[in-house]
Amino acid sequence: MKYTHGHGPAVLANHLTRTAQDSLAFVLPHLHRDSRVLDVGCGPGSITLDVAAIVAGLGGSASQVTGVENTDEPLRAARGLAEERGIGAQFALGDAHALPVADGTFDVVIAHQVLQHVADPVAVLRELVRVAAPGGIVAVRDADYAGMFFHPQPEGLVEWQRDYRRRARANGGEPDAGRLLPAWARQAGLGPGQLGFTTSTWTYTHGSGASWLADSWIRRTQAAESAEAAQVQDAAGICAGWRSWAADEAAAFVMPHGELLIRV
Ligand SMILES: C[S@@+](CC[C@H](N)C(=O)[O-])C[C@H]1O[C@@H](n2cnc3c(N)ncnc32)[C@H](O)[C@@H]1O
Repeated sequence: MKYTHGHGPAVLANHLTRTAQDSLAFVLPHLHRDSRVLDVGCGPGSITLDVAAIVAGLGGSASQVTGVENTDEPLRAARGLAEERGIGAQFALGDAHALPVADGTFDVVIAHQVLQHVADPVAVLRELVRVAAPGGIVAVRDADYAGMFFHPQPEGLVEWQRDYRRRARANGGEPDAGRLLPAWARQAGLGPGQLGFTTSTWTYTHGSGASWLADSWIRRTQAAESAEAAQVQDAAGICAGWRSWAADEAAAFVMPHGELLIRV
């Protein structure tokens, strides 16, 4: 299945702003100098490289950290960023449903904002557990689009939420993945004693991220190269909604995420 957002410049630029601190805080206490880490669906690699720098800072080597993607575009961006930052993490091509990795190879297996985009999230969870070493962990985090809330609520922004959830489902994904992570884990055969489920949010307010968020979605909705732009039903209305929301001095937008930690 084709990645719903595509890998146009606006999408990669958005993902490149992510850090290990703002996306994987629940995983960081589990990193040690000896941790071998696999970041599945690593995108342009900003989080992967943060994790590699943390492992290196703990006395390990950045080369213990590997990012995997199923297409070349984000991998090219990730390798470029690794060079720019001077961090020797590894990047490889591979499909999350059938990773080119032997059983039990990694101590920490991560998939950040990936299960919502795959054809079979239960099969992917089984695959992540397969490549994790006994005593290791699998950590997944996904947004929940139906759970997102915002103020004010211009019709264009309400339509954005409806439109995105419709498009993600039509493409075979699950936009409300955050709440489903424990259910998928149980379907994958994992026992309740192995699972820890928490939540965390990204929050944007006027003067603190609202303009960036609005600009990012407007670019993705309008850009000629954007895979999303071609599918959006009311691009003009959605962009107007983002603009009027961001211009409001009381603007607030909350994106909830489910976080699942599996002990292997
Ligand atoms: C929302 S992005 C997240 C990127 C990165 N983890 C981050 O949070 O910045 C989802 C990524 O998963 C990748 N992806 C989707 N399906 C995949 C699959 N079957 N195997 C490997 N990667 C996949 C996409 O190419 C995309 O880069």
